[in-house]
Amino acid sequence: MHTYFTDDPVEAAKFISSDKLVVFPTETVYGLGGNALNAAAVESIYEAKGRPSSNPLIVHVGAIADLSRVVEEITPSAHAFMDAFFPGPITLVLPRHPSLPKVVSGGLDTVAIRMPSLPIALQLLRSAGLPIAAPSANISGRPSATTWQSAAEDLDGRVSCILRGPKATVGLESTVVDCTGRSPILLRPGAISVGSLSAIVPEISTDAPDIFRSPGLRHHHYAPSARVCVISTPDEAIPGDQTGYIGLAPPHADAQFKQCVVASHVKDYSHRLFEFFRDCDRSGVTTIYCQSLVETGLAHALMDRIRRAAKASR
Ligand code: TXA
Ligand code: MG
Repeated sequence: MHTYFTDDPVEAAKFISSDKLVVFPTETVYGLGGNALNAAAVESIYEAKGRPSSNPLIVHVGAIADLSRVVEEITPSAHAFMDAFFPGPITLVLPRHPSLPKVVSGGLDTVAIRMPSLPIALQLLRSAGLPIAAPSANISGRPSATTWQSAAEDLDGRVSCILRGPKATVGLESTVVDCTGRSPILLRPGAISVGSLSAIVPEISTDAPDIFRSPGLRHHHYAPSARVCVISTPDEAIPGDQTGYIGLAPPHADAQFKQCVVASHVKDYSHRLFEFFRDCDRSGVTTIYCQSLVETGLAHALMDRIRRAAKASR
């Protein structure tokens, strides 16, 4: 398949309207999108990504009005989170509208929705005038793409269009909250922290029982080919031309790594993590050392992704 590259969201929107797939930027990570109202377009998303169709997708909207064709009901907790955080790096799970193709949410009666804040993503959604179903724009099992070049590395030839945008500012996937029940349940930590969520709805539960767990979290995720080791200080990392280090503390001046990122704060660490994983794979690194942080605020989401990568690569 020929892939068309563009910087113009209006041009990319035409592909969505004709049920073709488009890679697009958001503030969290790049997405692999298609018309959520068309079952065939949605099926082709799973196929392009190599993703099992039991792992549900997120439906992105450019306006609250677009939700009328996607969700059956906006529950009180969802209303509160939407008022506080839309548009932004948060996804809410709600009862699915009966007319929305079931395949969007892997056959579930619920559906995940999100309104991204990145202006070019909103322009794409608003020009298409359609809800866009999109998982992260990576081949299933690889780290999410935070640049259009990384998304192209995985998906060039598998999608009709790649909308080029900036490097994702957040760099980690959105916070996912199940809002179908009386008390909301955190399913995936993200840039909207537990503290911010509970300031809006204090009843939020953060340890989801297994049956509520985000189906995607049961699958292997976020894994580079290299082995990922979690360490507490850079002294525990073994330097060499096949190892990489990322953290906040600088390694000793004599310690040379093939890839090394000393981030300036948690936000910077999160912003750079997935691209660092990909740089390590590109340059033949076999072991990646990640410095662990105390899991509060954004570091909760960051450590969640690092732990998953360590587990998948063991
Ligand atoms: O930041 C993001 O969320 C990015 C950008 C592109 O928006 N998207 C993303 O999509 O990370 P994906 O497919 O890689 O992750 C979606 C997560 C998965 O863990 C999936 O299981 C969960 O959301 N999810 C989707 N629909 C769900 C549902 N109905 N019930 C429970 N979890 C759901
Ligand atoms: Mg993903």
